[in-house]
Amino acid sequence: MIKLKTPLVVLNFKTYLEATGKNAVRVAEICNDLSKETGISIVAVPQLPDIRAAAETGAIVFAQHIDGIDAGSHTGHVLAESVRDAGAIGTLINHSERRCGLAEIDSAIQAARRVGITTIVCSNNIATARAAAAMKPDFVAVEPPELIGTGIPVSSADPDVVTGSVDAVSEIDPDVRVLCGAGISKGEDMRAALELGTVGVLLASGIIRASDPKAALVDLISGIK
Ligand code: G3P
Repeated sequence: MIKLKTPLVVLNFKTYLEATGKNAVRVAEICNDLSKETGISIVAVPQLPDIRAAAETGAIVFAQHIDGIDAGSHTGHVLAESVRDAGAIGTLINHSERRCGLAEIDSAIQAARRVGITTIVCSNNIATARAAAAMKPDFVAVEPPELIGTGIPVSSADPDVVTGSVDAVSEIDPDVRVLCGAGISKGEDMRAALELGTVGVLLASGIIRASDPKAALVDLISGIK
C-alpha cells in the first residue's frame, strides 16, 4: 500500500488534452519519477478512463470523483471499488468543477472508507471547509473558484481564506489536514502555502499546461524545504 507523506502535491489532470490518454501516462511518469527522486508524495489525478494506465507507471493516483453508491443497479456512476481496483489509492470529492451536495459528499466519503481509499474534499471558503471537516475526510482542500486557472496563487491573493480554513478545520477535527489550491504554480506558491499552515497544494494548469511540465514541477517542489 503506497503511504502518502506530507507535504503533498496533488496534480489534477482535469480534462486537459495535455494529460489525457497517452499524455496522462506521460504526466504520471513525471510525477512518479520526481516522487522517487525526491521522496515527496506527488499525486496524479487523471480522468477515470486513464486511472489504470497512470497507476501502472508506479505513480500515486487518485480519482477526480467517486459517487456515494454501493455496487448494483447504477448507470453512469463511479463505484469506489472500481477506482480502487484500477489502482487509485484516493479520490477528490466535491471539486468546484464537480460540485456535490452535503449528503452526496458524506456518502462518497463513506464509500471511500468502505474500500480503504483516501479522501480529499474540496471546499470554496472557510464555512464549507468547516462543514467538510465535520464529515471526517482525510484532507480538506480549500480552493476559491474565482482563482482557479488564473495563475494568481491563492497563497498570495487570499491568504486569509487559507489560514481561516486551517483554523476552522482544526477546531472541528485536528486529524483532518488542509491543502490549498487555485492559481498555484511556483516554488514560492508552495512555500507560502506551507507557511500558511497547510500540508500541501492541489493544482492543475500551472503544471499540466506548462511548455515543460517536468521543469514546472521541479520548480514547484523546490518550495518544499
Ligand atoms: O484541482 C486543482 C485546480 O482546481 C486548481 O486549478 O489550474 O488554478 O491550478 P489551477
